[in-house]
Amino acid sequence: MLELKHISYQVSSEEGELGILNDISLTVPDHKLVVFTGPNGGGKTTLAKIIMGLVKPTAGQILWNGQDVTDLSITERARLGISYGFQQPPRFKGLTVRKLLTIASGNEKLSKDQCCQYLTKVGLCANDQLEREVAVSLAGGEVKRIEIATIRARNGELMIFDEPEAGIDLWSFARLTETFEQIHRQGKATMVIISHQERIISLADEVVVVAGGAIRQRGSAEEILPLILSDTLGSCPVMTKEGAAK
Ligand SMILES: Nc1ncnc2c1ncn2[C@@H]1O[C@H](COP(=O)(O)OP(=O)(O)OP(=O)(O)O)[C@@H](O)[C@H]1O
Ligand SMILES: [Mg+2]
Repeated sequence: MLELKHISYQVSSEEGELGILNDISLTVPDHKLVVFTGPNGGGKTTLAKIIMGLVKPTAGQILWNGQDVTDLSITERARLGISYGFQQPPRFKGLTVRKLLTIASGNEKLSKDQCCQYLTKVGLCANDQLEREVAVSLAGGEVKRIEIATIRARNGELMIFDEPEAGIDLWSFARLTETFEQIHRQGKATMVIISHQERIISLADEVVVVAGGAIRQRGSAEEILPLILSDTLGSCPVMTKEGAAK
């Protein structure tokens, strides 16, 4: 179980202290799929980075399976099963797709067949990709899909994805949502997915709307989606402070 307790993140700016996140408390039960959504700049990525340990909160606590991980490094959190999908995955010179999957899985003997399975699941033709270097010759969309394959290979207990749909074509998007559904059905991992996509939001056990650095609304996809979809004129009650106060 993931517990966020009174998480705040402030930065100093020329105008003084800026509250990026303000007193966020949230529990994600084991094996649930939770989607963070909300307007641009609302604080979703910052919150995801705080869970992973890429950003340290200025106040509050993060508990993972009852253990306080607030002061643990990314590596230490990764050892505890927390994995994070970067918007831009690292590109090291000389690192092939096969090697990246092997490292991610923590299994040096990961077979070619297993690598191929991971790649096929994210819509890549494995034979074409395995020996290619991540740093060169891969299109943005391909890198994004390889990143998703590495997260599957890592098989973490808690998987965090930041806008995994960004920059991929529709066909791959369908494979991606299938992958999320499969991981969810297996019932072994907890997933936090940041997304603006209706299709992904509809997979969620719970949708959390983050806006203005706070949780504006929480509920089932059935409850939240109609509110978001009715926001075509920018008057969505969940996205605004006024709506939250009601
Ligand atoms: N270190 C920082 N210093 C100053 N401002 C920051 C810092 N980190 C984040 N912000 C600001 O905090 C706000 C929240 O950013 P964040 O990236 O978390 O939003 P988001 O909800 O992920 O948005 P998007 O949907 O566009 O990805 C933004 O206005 C961003 O510019
Ligand atoms: Mg973001």
